[in-house]
Amino acid sequence: MITIKSLKNSLRSPIASLLLAMVLLMAFTSCREETDLKEAGPEAILELNIPHFPALNLKPDQLLTKSKVKLGKQLFFDPSLSRDYSISCASCHLPELAFTDGLAVSVGIEGRVHNRNSPTLFNVAWQPYLFMDGGNPTLESQVIGPIEEHREMDLPFTEAVSRIAAINEYQESFQNAFGDDVNPYTLSLALATYERALLSYDSPFDRFRYQGDSSALSESAQRGLALFESAELNCVACHKFPLTTDFSFQNNGLKDIYLDPGRARVTNNIPEHEGQFKVATLRNIALSAPYMHDGSLGDLGDVIDHYASGGSNHRLKSSLITGFEISASEKADLIAFLESLTDTSSYKLYTD
Ligand code: HEC
Ligand code: HEC
Repeated sequence: MITIKSLKNSLRSPIASLLLAMVLLMAFTSCREETDLKEAGPEAILELNIPHFPALNLKPDQLLTKSKVKLGKQLFFDPSLSRDYSISCASCHLPELAFTDGLAVSVGIEGRVHNRNSPTLFNVAWQPYLFMDGGNPTLESQVIGPIEEHREMDLPFTEAVSRIAAINEYQESFQNAFGDDVNPYTLSLALATYERALLSYDSPFDRFRYQGDSSALSESAQRGLALFESAELNCVACHKFPLTTDFSFQNNGLKDIYLDPGRARVTNNIPEHEGQFKVATLRNIALSAPYMHDGSLGDLGDVIDHYASGGSNHRLKSSLITGFEISASEKADLIAFLESLTDTSSYKLYTD
C-alpha cells in the first residue's frame, strides 16, 4: 500500500540507493509494509500510494513525513488552539468515533452550539473542497476556520500562532519538521499534513472488492452491497466507489424546509442550490452516528428508512431519490454492508 519514495538526506550516496532499492523490493510483500513504514526515518517521504484509490497530486510542501505528521497530531490534540484552552480539534473529531463527536451538532467553547454535525476526517486528503457546502478550498486554509469560528475555538489565528511559537518544544519540532519557525504557513501545513494521514482503505469491503478476498464479507454484507449497487436503490450513483462519494452537491430530500441553506450559503443561489450538501463519505459510517448535516437521523436504520420513503417533496430534491420497498432482512443486509466499510486501523501506520 505504501512505498517510501525517498530517504531525503541520504539519497545521493550509492549505499543509500541500494538500501532504498531493498526497501522497495521488500515493500512488494504486504506483510513487510508495516515494518518498512515503522522503520522509516523522520524525514522519509511517505508516499500515499493506495492502488485502488485515485492518485493524489500533492505539492512538494504537502508531502508527508513522519516528523510533520507527528507535529500535526500534537497540534490536533492541543487545547491551546482554543481561546479558553478548553477544547482541541480532537474534542469534536474524536479518533474512536471516526473523527466525529457523536453529537447531532457540535458544541464549541463555553457550550456554544454549532448548526452542523461534525464530519469524519478519514480520507479527507481526497476531498476537492472542504465543508458540507464546499465553502473552503484546501485543508491548509480550512485550519483557520475552526480556530477563529465563534462557535468553535474562537481564537484569532495570529494569536494561535503566537501561543504555539511561545512554547520551546514546539519551536524545536517546527524546525525539525519544516526547517522553519512557527508561522501561519507552517502551523496550517502541520495540521493539514496530519489530516492527510487519516486514511481508511483496508476495510472488509476493500479486501473483498479490490484484493480478491471473497471471505472478507459475510453473505449478508454481500447481499447488502448488491442492494447498494442495485438499479432500484442506486446508492452508488452518489456514493461512488472507492471513496464512497463523488463530492457533488445534492439535495437528498432530507427536509421540506431547510434551515441550513447548504451549498446556497456559498453561492447565494437559493433557487438552484438550496438544501444541497456535499455527498458524504460512507467510510467508517457505522462509527459516526448521528447522521446528515444536522445529525437529525439517529442510526443507519433511520437513514435507510429516509431513503426508502423517498424523502421530502423539496423542489430541488435529486431525481435519484424516489423511494423503494425494502424488507426487514434486506435492511439488515444493507446495514451489514455499511458496517463493512469500517477500517480504523490503517491510519495508525502513518500517525503512530
Ligand atoms: C466545536 C467543534 C469543532 C472543533 C473544535 C473543530 N471542528 Fe472541524 N468541524 C466541525 C464541524 C461541525 C464541521 C462541519 C462544518 C461544515 O461543514 O460547515 C467541521 C468540519 C471540518 C473539516 C471539513 C471536513 C469535510 O469533509 O469537509 C475539517 C477538515 C475539519 N473540521 C478539521 C478541523 C481541525 C483541523 C480542527 C482544529 C483546528 C477542527 N476541525 C476543530 C466541528 C469542529
Ligand atoms: C442523490 C444522491 C444520493 C443518493 C442516491 C444517496 N445519497 Fe446518501 N447522501 C447524499 C448526500 C448529499 C448526503 C449528505 C446529506 C446531508 O449532509 O444532509 C448523504 C448522506 C448519507 C449518509 C449520512 C452520512 C453522514 O456522515 O452523516 C448515509 C449513511 C447515506 N447517505 C447512505 C445512503 C444510502 C444507503 C443510499 C441508498 C439507499 C444513499 N445514501 C443514496 C446523497 C445521496
